[in-house]
Amino acid sequence: MKNYPERQGSRDNKAMTFVAQYKQFASMRIFALGLFFLLSMILLLAAGPTRAQSDVNPPTSGIASSPELVEKPVGGNVPGDVLGSSSDAELWRAVRRGVQGNVSIPNEQAGVLIQANGENWRNFRNGPLSTYGIWGLIGIIGFLALFFLLRGRVKIQSGESGQLIERFNGIERFTHWMTAVSFIILAITGLNVLYGRYVILPALGPDVFSALTIAGKYAHNFLAFPFMLGVAMMFLLWIGHNIPNRHDLVWLAKGGGFFSKHSHPPARKFNAGQKIIFWLVVLTGLTLSVSGVALMFPFEISPWGKTFAVINMVGFDLPTNLTAMQEMQLSQLWHSVVALFIIAVILAHIYIGTIGMQGAFDAMGSGKVDINWAREHHNLWVEEQQQKASSDAHAQPAE
Ligand code: HEM
Repeated sequence: MKNYPERQGSRDNKAMTFVAQYKQFASMRIFALGLFFLLSMILLLAAGPTRAQSDVNPPTSGIASSPELVEKPVGGNVPGDVLGSSSDAELWRAVRRGVQGNVSIPNEQAGVLIQANGENWRNFRNGPLSTYGIWGLIGIIGFLALFFLLRGRVKIQSGESGQLIERFNGIERFTHWMTAVSFIILAITGLNVLYGRYVILPALGPDVFSALTIAGKYAHNFLAFPFMLGVAMMFLLWIGHNIPNRHDLVWLAKGGGFFSKHSHPPARKFNAGQKIIFWLVVLTGLTLSVSGVALMFPFEISPWGKTFAVINMVGFDLPTNLTAMQEMQLSQLWHSVVALFIIAVILAHIYIGTIGMQGAFDAMGSGKVDINWAREHHNLWVEEQQQKASSDAHAQPAE
């Protein structure tokens, strides 16, 4: 028979011994942990305040200079006359308005914390400028389409004679096309900057839009130079033919003969309509060049303060002390407004030079036009040319 109770009793004794040993071990561990924490606290207290005292010094301006001030009632402010107690509403209002402070780094613009005019600029650019700009362009295209439908192509009334007369020589045509091609690319890439994200971005996606816009930006920057050169050359070549004269008033009074099929008001080399185009191209070309170069070399050129000072001489009160950023914003807005305007004008010019008038394109294509076309649109110029030719012929010695 097996002695089970006895074996059970010895097992109980062993278990009791183990529990007692474990309790003793646990209390030793608690004691060791307590000791460790105590030592750590002593070390921290010894090291901590010394480091804090050596590293952090309260700002002298933040300490009350006299004890009376500290004891004064603080009226809801932070006690101790600490800077920042008052709300400084005036200061923050000025910062919000875009006031410029002083900085000791070379970039003076870092002195402006909030460029308040940036919001006005952005609102105007993305609001009225873009909206009226696109409606203006759509309006002029609609007007030209309507004019074409109602008036049709301006034909050579007496038909083509087959006899040609030189209208523009090689240098004139080169100048015209250099200006025209660069203008058209400048116009397309410029319009992309203004409207591309509403049209090309949703249609072709961000990758294509980004690639096109980067390429367009380079094209815009580089083609600005042939355009400027072309406008300067046009000015020199054609200024002599674009001085207004009495025939221009008649031409304008008759609407250039555009609204009647049998009216051909007299004109020399350029009629009043062409003179208007010429002067608009020269003047807008000049102002687009100045504002464009100001945008191309940011903060280097500041034309607006000086321009406003001149305008103020005739009774205006425009601000002349503009920040460099405001100068940039004004250059951008002016550049866009003028560009949109001259694009609309040139759309009408291209219409007349192509589908709008029979025989006109040849003047800038081959340089020679049909004599009947020339007689109908520039009769005084034809007479001048024929007189010149006959006086040249008379001046030639007989062989
Ligand atoms: C596809 C585009 C263009 C075509 C087909 C075109 C066509 C013509 C033609 C046929 C003439 C000669 C008119 C005549 O014999 O009396 C002309 C003249 C002229 N073009 Fe263009 N042109 C274009 C673009 C431009 C551009 C972009 C500019 C300037 C930004 C420009 C400025 C001028 C000027 C100033 C004249 C002389 C004045 C005048 O005739 O109005 N052209 N153009």
